Order: sequence, then structure tokens, then C-alpha cells
Amino acid sequence: MLLAIPKVLTPEQVAEGRRLLQQAQWVDGRATAGHQGARVKHNEQLPLRSPVAEQLGQMILDALSATPLFMSAALPLRILPPSFNRYRVGQSFGTHVDGAVRTLGGGHALRTDLSCTLFFSAPEDYDGGELVIEDTYGTKRVKLPAGDMILYPATSLHHVTPVTRGERLCSFFWVQSMIRDDTRRALLFDMDVAIQRLGGELPDHPAVVQLTGVYHNLLRQWAEV
Ligand code: NI
Repeated sequence: MLLAIPKVLTPEQVAEGRRLLQQAQWVDGRATAGHQGARVKHNEQLPLRSPVAEQLGQMILDALSATPLFMSAALPLRILPPSFNRYRVGQSFGTHVDGAVRTLGGGHALRTDLSCTLFFSAPEDYDGGELVIEDTYGTKRVKLPAGDMILYPATSLHHVTPVTRGERLCSFFWVQSMIRDDTRRALLFDMDVAIQRLGGELPDHPAVVQLTGVYHNLLRQWAEV
């Protein structure tokens, strides 16, 4: 499933994030790339555990926990602390697949089921810099308004096209979902959306409770927690 989640951050949060990111110290993005990724990765990142990354990362995690569309679509078990990248003119990230497991420190690890990219730059402020995702339904080109986020399967091949004007500031991170399988997760999401619609139009209909029960019983069958 590939899903755009609008308005994760408010315009004020985006402006504050952009201000902090523009003042931050950036390092070569290859520092955190695997062997294959390092050959095609040409961008900059904030160092892990930099104060700006920690502050903005917490802001994003708080915003996500208050975003029902994200919670319903991702069914997150763990979320990796958000990272931040910058692409300037001429920079790009060639076709790659994200590493399957990320370490969290303290002996913990996270399986990357879903990849997230949250845009801090407005699309009109740069040319190029599109996130191109190849999934089972074909190729999608993604460039969202500032404050919006794309959620996509971490199993997909993807790349970022060269920036040809301006700069592109984003946050990126991974989610381990309670539902490992993308098809099952998409079914639960569709069902949740349908139940919300039905509940909105016919709140007293007994089928709403019945279907909510089916949703939770499927989740109980499939969830890894
Ligand atoms: Ni990637």
C-alpha cells in the first residue's frame, strides 16, 4: 500500500522545522548507507542523535500519534527515531532497497515494514527531487506539500531524482507494523475506513459493532506484539 497522509504537521511546525534544519550541521548521507546504497546515495543528513534531529523527531512522533489515518494504515508496533536529509542541486539517490533491519541501540532492532518520507520543503521551492517508488502496481512519482507524508512498503525499490533547482528537505524513517504482511494490513485498513464511514452515517446500526468486532478479531489473529 502506498498512501499519502496530508497535514501531519501544521504550517507552523513546518516553518519551525525548516528554520532549524537550515541552521543545522549536515554530514555526508553515505555515513548511514549500506554497501549497495552508498554507491548511489548523494545527499546530506543530520547526524544521528543531533539535538535538532531529536527535537524535530519527537515533534513528528507526537504528530503521528495524533494522526488517525497513519495509525490505521500503519498499525505501528515500533517507529525508528526520524532522520533528516537534504538534497541540493545535482544531488540524488539512485535505485535502492531499504535495509530490512535497523538497530535501535540497547540491543533492540526494528524490522522495516514501512518507509515514511515527510516533506519539509514546499514542492514549488525546488525542481526535481521526486521520490519514485516501484511497487507491484507500477511506478509512482511522489512530491507532496510541506507537512504531508508518504507511507510505502519498505520492500519496494525506490529512488530520488536529481534536484535541479532549490533544495529538498525531508524527514525519513521506518515503521515496524503489528501486521507484517502488506496485503493483510491493507485489508484491515480498508475495513477500518469502511467501518468509520458506516459509523458516521448509521451510528446506531448494530452492524457497526459487529463489524468492529470482526476487525478486532482479525487484528487479534494476525498482530505480532
Ligand atoms: Ni530508501
